Amino acid sequence: MTEEITQNFPASYFEVDEATKQSGFTMASDSLTCSLLKTLAASKPGGKFLELGTGTGLSTAWILDGMDSASTLTSVDNDEHFLNIAKQHLTDHRLDLICADAG
Ligand SMILES: C[S@@+](CC[C@H](N)C(=O)[O-])C[C@H]1O[C@@H](n2cnc3c(N)ncnc32)[C@H](O)[C@@H]1O
Repeated sequence: MTEEITQNFPASYFEVDEATKQSGFTMASDSLTCSLLKTLAASKPGGKFLELGTGTGLSTAWILDGMDSASTLTSVDNDEHFLNIAKQHLTDHRLDLICADAG
């Protein structure tokens, strides 16, 4: 199995990654998983995506990067502190970030 990422990282990824490291968030997704999410998002033009567990927005950045202009993404997390990192760095009209219990 190859563990090489052959697609570009999202432009927003690096600032979210830096803010994530500074925040002490310990549940961040790894880049290989995020790269797969980008590919899956790209396979569904016009998709209405739901992400449960935004964290600081690392996976969110990748999903957005794979989505076409007609797609939308709602991402939910119940931790306002970490969700605010995503809100600060991911400003995209296709994205709705919600602080709520996903249950
Ligand atoms: C593994 S982390 C998410 C990692 C993130 N997707 C990333 O790419 O770095 C899981 C997230 O789920 C959130 N979470 C856990 N239980 C939740 C619930 N009941 N409702 C909403 N969010 C929840 C946590 O606050 C945490 O940010």
